[in-house]
Amino acid sequence: MEFRGAHILSVTQFERDDVQRVFEVADSMEPYAHRLRISKALDGAILGSMFFEPSTRTRVSFGCAFNLLGGHVRETTDIKSSSITKGESLYDTARVISGYSDVVVMRHPQPGSVAEFAKASRVPVINGGDGPNEHPSQALLDLYTIKKELISKQRSIDGMHIAMVGDLKHGRTVHSLSQLLLLYKGITFSLISPRELKMPDSIVAELRNAGHEVIETEDMEAGLKDNDTVYLTRIQEERFENKLEADIYRGRFRMNQAIYTRHCQPNTVIMHPLPRDSREEANELDNDLNQHPNLAIFRQTDNGVLVRMALFALILDVTDKIDRNATDVGWYTESRFD
Ligand code: NCD
Repeated sequence: MEFRGAHILSVTQFERDDVQRVFEVADSMEPYAHRLRISKALDGAILGSMFFEPSTRTRVSFGCAFNLLGGHVRETTDIKSSSITKGESLYDTARVISGYSDVVVMRHPQPGSVAEFAKASRVPVINGGDGPNEHPSQALLDLYTIKKELISKQRSIDGMHIAMVGDLKHGRTVHSLSQLLLLYKGITFSLISPRELKMPDSIVAELRNAGHEVIETEDMEAGLKDNDTVYLTRIQEERFENKLEADIYRGRFRMNQAIYTRHCQPNTVIMHPLPRDSREEANELDNDLNQHPNLAIFRQTDNGVLVRMALFALILDVTDKIDRNATDVGWYTESRFD
């Protein structure tokens, strides 16, 4: 794929080599993301950060990634305070914002909305999540994390076993991650969810057609056996008709120290895109695993900055300018990265 000037709307745009390229560039971003070096490769560039749905990590990590390359960020964070509430079309918003920015990241509740915005945009657009549809940068950072975690356990993505747990119907992160894994070989998926919240049939069919084994189950104990990675998700309350309907499923599938010890392989990597719902009635990933060495959730969030820096560097074509004129950081920093 040609990264220069590209929109990043779906994981289906990527070939295996493209993913590899993103990961190589992400690796090279470490000294900058880890506050050892400063790069000004994007000095003067502006990111239009348009989030029309709640977001903490995706919005802030895209912003930090852009800042770490020397660029500036302009944000719209609330649908209520944007002109969309005055009836402005995505077309008009895209024409306007793309005149102010060099690249745009957008999150919006409507599936397909970011692609519609991109069609009218004069600059590259990255999908930060379009409703229940896709979340490509999350899938890339998840896969980057899986790769690193498995390498440290002498395993690889090809041939791995992954369990995905929770709201697989509405979870855009599991939709994108599954589709990205179509590029790899011989994976076994244990899809653990309430029947009503199962992975869309179209995605399951694609996985099977690609030669992967897919087990769909409501039995968490059985589904957790023999996995390299378990990827937990939150019940996506905001996608339900009302909160009461979501309440039916909350707390159905939980991971904690006791369940992990009883049902998972000792080396199983524990992942979650976050936010985890830590309320008593949900608690799909308990705090009692916080010190567990296989808990990778905060390595995922750290890796998100590397992967998002890589996407900006590739799209804006500055990969060869990052190290040029880089300097050491001039302030006090404490090493806080593994
Ligand atoms: C996810 C999302 O927004 O889809 N969060 C994220 O971007 N890390 C998952 C979620 O909200 O449950």
